[in-house]
Amino acid sequence: MRALPIGVFDSGLGGLTVARELMRALPDESLVYLGDSARCPYGPRGPSDVREFVLEIGSWLASRPVKLIVIACNTATAAGLALAQRVFDVPVIGVVEPGARAAVQATVNRQVGVIATVGTVESGAYSRAVRALDAGVTVFSAAAPRFVDVVEAGLRMDDSPVEAWMSATADVFIRPSFYEIARDYLDPLKRAGIDTLVLGCTHFPLLSPAIQQVVGPQVHLISSAEETAREAAETLAARGQLADSTSAPVHEFHTTGDPTEFEMLGSRILGVPTGRVGVVALEELSGRVDDSMRAAATAFAAEEEACD
Ligand code: DGL
Repeated sequence: MRALPIGVFDSGLGGLTVARELMRALPDESLVYLGDSARCPYGPRGPSDVREFVLEIGSWLASRPVKLIVIACNTATAAGLALAQRVFDVPVIGVVEPGARAAVQATVNRQVGVIATVGTVESGAYSRAVRALDAGVTVFSAAAPRFVDVVEAGLRMDDSPVEAWMSATADVFIRPSFYEIARDYLDPLKRAGIDTLVLGCTHFPLLSPAIQQVVGPQVHLISSAEETAREAAETLAARGQLADSTSAPVHEFHTTGDPTEFEMLGSRILGVPTGRVGVVALEELSGRVDDSMRAAATAFAAEEEACD
């Protein structure tokens, strides 16, 4: 078990910001990453579609097998973490709770902003997670769907190192400019007096310097990647499943989209080469969801509805 990899997935490239942090925090662990680029973005989709994707990709990873699944996507975490935890035998962790915890620890005035996809904001997942940790913190949420496009398009249009690209921002690549879009999303949060802003989408850390410029240096930016890596380490340590350092880790990267593009862009985000990227066909994923999983998903949706 200790030698098995950690499974990680996202709707595309964004989850590589979490994979990068896992590689940093857990250098002996092997990773199997799947980026569902063929169906990116997840943000505008309904929760039942996203839950189906979580079941498909979770099953694919579980069959590798893996010892832990990290849902490195806020939208998928918000829609499907609880369901995945019921369905799969291995532990599953997401990125919302770690981000909420880091925000609660960082805020001084207890006014926290969250920017995320439409799906994540509409789920209310961050407000619930923050409230569970500290009911005295007020959360102001804003959907920032165009930031996902800015990251995806910006990375494709410019081949400078990601760090250089991040600080130059995608301003030159898109109209209206990044700053106009960012001000629309962020000004209401600034006016609310937040001192902490959660980057509630795993694509957004790639825009940190530009977002920081818009919100000002006094606002603490939170990316859940570090905190998620810490939770992964704690989960494995508690189960006695941390890899030992006797053999070098082996990382595998797969996509449902274009492998050449994923290898090129993914290597830039990770800061190390991904190696040859495997292709996973969508039919291969959809064939993995069996009747018992569908029944669990239906029961889960009914429970959610009853709670609303
Ligand atoms: N990376 C995904 C997240 O953290 C967002 C991108 C998408 O909309 O698919 O929510």
